[in-house]
Amino acid sequence: MRPARIACLLALLALLAAAPSASVADGVADYEQAVAQAKQRWRDSPYGPMLERILPPGFEPAMLPAPRSRGAALTVRYCVQCHNLPNPAMHQAAKWPKVVERMAARMRGNGNMGRLMHEMMAGVAAPSKEEERVLLDYLRRYGQKPLDPRKYPEAFTPRGEPFRLACRQCHVLPDPKRHTAQEWRAVVARMEKNMDWMNRVVGSQPDPDEPQLRIEDINAFLAKYAKKAP
Ligand code: HEC
Ligand code: HEC
Repeated sequence: MRPARIACLLALLALLAAAPSASVADGVADYEQAVAQAKQRWRDSPYGPMLERILPPGFEPAMLPAPRSRGAALTVRYCVQCHNLPNPAMHQAAKWPKVVERMAARMRGNGNMGRLMHEMMAGVAAPSKEEERVLLDYLRRYGQKPLDPRKYPEAFTPRGEPFRLACRQCHVLPDPKRHTAQEWRAVVARMEKNMDWMNRVVGSQPDPDEPQLRIEDINAFLAKYAKKAP
């Protein structure tokens, strides 16, 4: 296990004394409050700074797709108990089952630390099997669309390298047709922040092998294949 991952698991210790489970968000207006309450609990723990780095804060409840769906409500209920709100578009449909399985095991206290974890997790609410299925359907439906290598061979040439190396570190390479060139500039700027945020693991050394971030080359590559602006 990487030290960062061990550190994350240790961070769960912080949830030992967690307060009662998150209130169910009945409507969109309640989401912000539910997320803020959950966040305060994990952030105030001694491991708060580390839990805070697991996912970046930029994705807000108001940005959830189909916000009135049950899937969105369950995401707000269960997925903010230990870290910031996950975006369904972060991962492609094929990736979500394994991630949800890992998270659900943690919530049920069946993580890889067995009984100890179970006792630590006393304050964390876990989804029923049925809720887990709805959650997974939701995440998959609004998931990322991966780049098709046959359609964009340039991504795998030296010219595509700045994009390829930078943009596959946390999720699959996204389909360039997802956004217009202008939208991509904003998304890439947000990803730059995500990188700053998520790479700053407490106590880690800067990695000399980390690829240089060449934002202009990345934007040029995406603009070439982007969705045409209407
Ligand atoms: C009991 C605490 C806990 C809950 C609740 C939780 N997570 Fe996590 N999550 C973690 C920890 C710890 C990590 C970092 C280690 C890892 O990646 O497994 C993490 C990491 C992640 C990541 C980043 C890693 C990756 O594979 O991309 C995503 C995405 C994620 N969680 C999604 C979710 C979703 C979706 C839910 C709700 C179904 C959820 N989490 C609920 C503890 C939790
Ligand atoms: C440090 C991890 C990380 C890296 C590296 C990263 N992303 Fe992301 N990406 C995320 C996270 C976290 C989300 C979900 C939260 C969000 O949308 O900001 C996401 C979501 C996305 C989405 C879906 C959201 C949308 O608005 O369409 C796209 C597309 C995307 N990333 C493209 C990129 C591109 C292009 C790059 C390379 C410049 C990149 N990502 C590099 C972490 C990363």
